[in-house]
Amino acid sequence: MGNRLIGYGSYLPERIVNNFDLEKMVDTSDEWIVQRTGMRERHFARDDESVVDMATIAAARALENAGITINDIDMVIVATTTPELDFPSVGVQVLGRLGATNNAPAFDVRGACTGYIYALHCARAFFTAGMHQRIMLIGAEKMSRFIDWSDRSTAVLFGDGAGALIFEHSSSSYSGIIDTVVMSDGGEFEMLHGTPDHHIIMNGPETYKKAVSLMPQAANYIMEHAGITADNVDWIVPHQANLRIIQSGAQRLGFPLEKILVTVDKHANTSGASGVLALSYAFDNNIIKRGQLVLYPAFGSGLTWGAALIRV
Ligand code: ACO
Repeated sequence: MGNRLIGYGSYLPERIVNNFDLEKMVDTSDEWIVQRTGMRERHFARDDESVVDMATIAAARALENAGITINDIDMVIVATTTPELDFPSVGVQVLGRLGATNNAPAFDVRGACTGYIYALHCARAFFTAGMHQRIMLIGAEKMSRFIDWSDRSTAVLFGDGAGALIFEHSSSSYSGIIDTVVMSDGGEFEMLHGTPDHHIIMNGPETYKKAVSLMPQAANYIMEHAGITADNVDWIVPHQANLRIIQSGAQRLGFPLEKILVTVDKHANTSGASGVLALSYAFDNNIIKRGQLVLYPAFGSGLTWGAALIRV
């Protein structure tokens, strides 16, 4: 029992904030941000624009791209760490906004920046079990709501946005989500976490060290498990946390930089939306072509990390 990708869509808020805008908001410089992170701009949602608003637009665009309607979807899984409401889930609210009447189940996954890999893992399991026909996977985050403007080391790193992918049951096990691995280490909680008053606490240098070793570890695990090497993979779409982390990970894995998709310069770190947004961007700009094999490593608060192998 396999699956295949039949549609994608994304939404980025209208407001673009570049590094020079940030210079006016916090004690930083374009030079520091570009040198340390590779980020040049990010999108910030309006105050009245919610995670559900962004997720709904991305979902509607994915449905249009797939040429189906919301009642053709029989499960929605949303990766998000920044929902405005504790309940109900963002997934259920998106179904409501889109007028679903088929009583499809929906739930949210909280895996921080690894959230979309956790969501892909769940979707793969449901397809493998033969339990669902069409699953919509959404990554949506309003990270700007969590920014602590008194902490310049985290304030410059994040952006908002949403992406959606639709997978359909297929008899081929060589298309769509082929393999996934997800892991966590709650013992490293202190390194990177949110606070009850919605701020981000992060030990940047320690997080950096973990990211450059754990993302390649997950990517290597997937390649070994699938019996493939770097030569078989067309693209790596890593979690877009920092350009230096992406480049160092690629080097450790022996991947040439031309095979690495980078959107961190345009979107910054959109956490659970990052990989889904990046793939949508790559399709829209004809960078990644349908049928190519994509390796998706990610890493985030928890700690959580993992990877997915997708034939898009
Ligand atoms: N502008 C200017 N200077 C700054 C800024 C800023 N925005 N932030 C920090 N600095 C200064 C520091 O104060 C420090 O100054 P000092 O030497 O005078 O004390 C100096 O820059 C170096 O600080 P470091 O923290 O050592 O800088 P580093 O090179 O490690 O870069 C960074 C910081 C970019 C955060 C890096 O550590 C990193 O990318 N870490 C990983 C982050 C990450 O991947 N997070 C992912 C998950 S997020 C999630 O899951 C929600």
